[in-house]
Amino acid sequence: MKTQILKPSQIEDAANLLKKGELVAIPTETVYGLAADASNEEAIRKIFVAKRRPTDHPLIVHIASFEAAREWAKEIPESAIKIAEHFWPGPLTLILKKRKNVSPLITGGQQTIALRMPINPIALQIIERLGKPIAAPSANAHKRTSPTKPEHVLKTLSGKIAAVVDGGQSSVGLESTIIDMTAVLPTVVRPGAITSVMIQKVLRKEVREKYDDRGKVPGSMPAHYQPEKPLFLFSGEEIKEYSLQENNIAILHYTNLAKNKNALYYKMPENSREYAKILYDVLYTIDSTSVNKIWVEKPPQHVAWAHVIDRLNRASS
Ligand code: TXA
Ligand code: MG
Repeated sequence: MKTQILKPSQIEDAANLLKKGELVAIPTETVYGLAADASNEEAIRKIFVAKRRPTDHPLIVHIASFEAAREWAKEIPESAIKIAEHFWPGPLTLILKKRKNVSPLITGGQQTIALRMPINPIALQIIERLGKPIAAPSANAHKRTSPTKPEHVLKTLSGKIAAVVDGGQSSVGLESTIIDMTAVLPTVVRPGAITSVMIQKVLRKEVREKYDDRGKVPGSMPAHYQPEKPLFLFSGEEIKEYSLQENNIAILHYTNLAKNKNALYYKMPENSREYAKILYDVLYTIDSTSVNKIWVEKPPQHVAWAHVIDRLNRASS
């Protein structure tokens, strides 16, 4: 199959492919998603084949209106409504109790459903034009780095999907925050641009963080989000001390460092939002160079960096 590249104006063509049960990679504000019509089991099966994703890994269903959430989730708690009203559309995924009729293919056989309303206008228009929600994991082969540009999608999925819609670079750059609203206290199971502190302020009640829930959130398995080259995390001091002796490495740093001509330096933004936006793109760029490892200066331990630190930890060897 030849993967078509569609322009943002070709919403109708993207929706028609989805209607026919094809897979289309679409831009979202977080990362590109590999979309299928969420009501079409045949199409959903294609996602697992194209990505080589184990079938027990559940998929996020993307919706364009709050009413749609009621068709997938039962008993949406007050607190979930409150944060949806505040943060949707946006980079937040809610885990809720699923309705009986939801396909186990989407939920990985679990009793919960993950729902998100993206804010990217192309994503919203495609869902609206299809007239149905879409199931969409990140548009990369299983265990590879999530794509934030159409060319990243093509790196691992070219020839395996019908099309990719070119919406330019994703503005957030890291996957959505996932919050489990079925737990006794709302629990962030994957950190994202919307932090637990931000959610806590809206809910005015305690929000837990539990990023190691391996059974429930395959995205939180250690071996995920991996670039092709081995990645190591060091303090700025360690990089200063040891990097001068190294050859053929890429160094992602945000403080100023003395430079070694045998290394490739990537000066990263000091602001977590800007850092998150470009991180995966920098990793894809480094993968196409000849360096044999990637050294990353550990970002500050601050809630605004929680998602960046989480993805770097998972990407590290
Ligand atoms: O930002 C995002 O969330 C992107 C864009 C495309 O929306 N999507 C994304 O999907 O990151 P994916 O499949 O790469 O990660 C989805 C995560 C997985 O870790 C999955 O296990 C979890 O959501 N998840 C999905 N449904 C779930 C459920 N019913 N219960 C618990 N976790 C669930
Ligand atoms: Mg993924």
